[in-house]
Amino acid sequence: MSWDKLSSQGVSRRQFLQKTVAIAALSTLPACSLVSASRQNGQWEYHLSAEPSQAELVPGHQTDVLAFNGEIPAPTIRCRQGEPVTIHFTNNLNEPTTIHWHGLRIPIEMDGVPFLSQAPIQPGETFIYRFTPPDAGTFWYHPHMNSVVQLGKGLVGTIVVEESSPVEFDEEHVLMLKHWHLDRQGQWKDLAIPRYSARMGTPGEWGTVNGIHHPEYTLQEKATTRLRLANVDNTLTYPIQVRGAKAWIIAIDGNPIATPRRLEEHKIAPGMRLDIGLIAPSAGEKVEIMQMKGDFPFLLASFISTPSQLRETKLPALPLNPVPALDLANAETRHFVFEWAGAITPADKQGKGKHEFWLMNKRAWEGMSRGNIPEPIATLERGKTYIFDLKNVTQYHHPIHLHGHTFTVLEMDGKPVTPFHTDTVLLGKNGHAKAAFVADNPGRWMYHCHVIEHMKTGLMGFVEVS
Ligand code: C2O
Ligand code: CU
Ligand code: CU
Repeated sequence: MSWDKLSSQGVSRRQFLQKTVAIAALSTLPACSLVSASRQNGQWEYHLSAEPSQAELVPGHQTDVLAFNGEIPAPTIRCRQGEPVTIHFTNNLNEPTTIHWHGLRIPIEMDGVPFLSQAPIQPGETFIYRFTPPDAGTFWYHPHMNSVVQLGKGLVGTIVVEESSPVEFDEEHVLMLKHWHLDRQGQWKDLAIPRYSARMGTPGEWGTVNGIHHPEYTLQEKATTRLRLANVDNTLTYPIQVRGAKAWIIAIDGNPIATPRRLEEHKIAPGMRLDIGLIAPSAGEKVEIMQMKGDFPFLLASFISTPSQLRETKLPALPLNPVPALDLANAETRHFVFEWAGAITPADKQGKGKHEFWLMNKRAWEGMSRGNIPEPIATLERGKTYIFDLKNVTQYHHPIHLHGHTFTVLEMDGKPVTPFHTDTVLLGKNGHAKAAFVADNPGRWMYHCHVIEHMKTGLMGFVEVS
């Protein structure tokens, strides 16, 4: 049995449990397997690499990509809440990298940000990431260096953290959403065009789910189904609708919501996730995951129901994540204004201009190197509750992401909302939000827009918790 199959998308929850048991019985998997994983005594172990590879994204054409373990889609890392994970990561790229575990509240040494949390992993080097995820849910991983290229060309993967006491769905599918900057022959186009970087970002044109254009999957009829959507795109926001079944939002950015609500339309911006619960329709019927563009729906992926012996039951409930309780009475508010700068510092002789289009509190990220780490955008006292008042004074939306902590969103656009947990707050055009968290994780944590070009052209900083 190969873990490739098992860890790739679309394995049913029951199969997964059976195979987990099988794997627990193995000592080590053969070294020939591209991704190997084992779980022993509650310890999970993975081997992961980043390397140049080829993939058939546009049917009939090979594209040069950068890929985890050489595969598109990247292997899904499965582990369990409260159980240690070890990932032996080897950099087989021609450039340095680091791997960040997006949304996981883990110690700074494992956060995978060059200079702030670790030295860049040089070509040929191996770095061992070890952490114990405190929260269950749908998370993802990606490099935090040369991100326009490294993520844009394929280094994006999901981490599924199982609940500490397993929650059983009959079917579970990971759907990784990404548009590739490819033409119809599978040739690369520009990943970032400055005049777009200064606006909504440069969109890719070839839409895929798990690296496939319009994939079709199956569901057992009447199956309790959990779909884990992850927007791993550099640029695009996907307004999601589901056709063919009553769909429920059960988790946002990995974090279960207290009361699931009907999914009418929900926007997931770069970096964000959405867990959808539904009951698969009768055999022969279809469930379609749609991306809305204004009023027009575009198909992302579809599921066809197949005959099964399952009896219709209710969707299982997800336990909330143990996000620290806020002390709002003693909270301190910090203000952040996201602004458009529109300055292009002229290109140098090599044509490598530095673009600064975006400002966070009047500052554009000036970059960072071993000997030069900029000042934090905020210094926070460990253990204290902070309310981040986020104000977007631009025409474009910005998904604002904080590492190492989970926000509780209190207010959106001046209106109170049912509080929900997230690691990324989507600010719409001129949007405003209030998001609180307990600064309980010491370290220097990146704080940035997840539209990768925005981050690279100024909208990035870090907060220091000490
Ligand atoms: Cu997906 Cu700095 O993060
Ligand atoms: Cu992150
Ligand atoms: Cu942005």
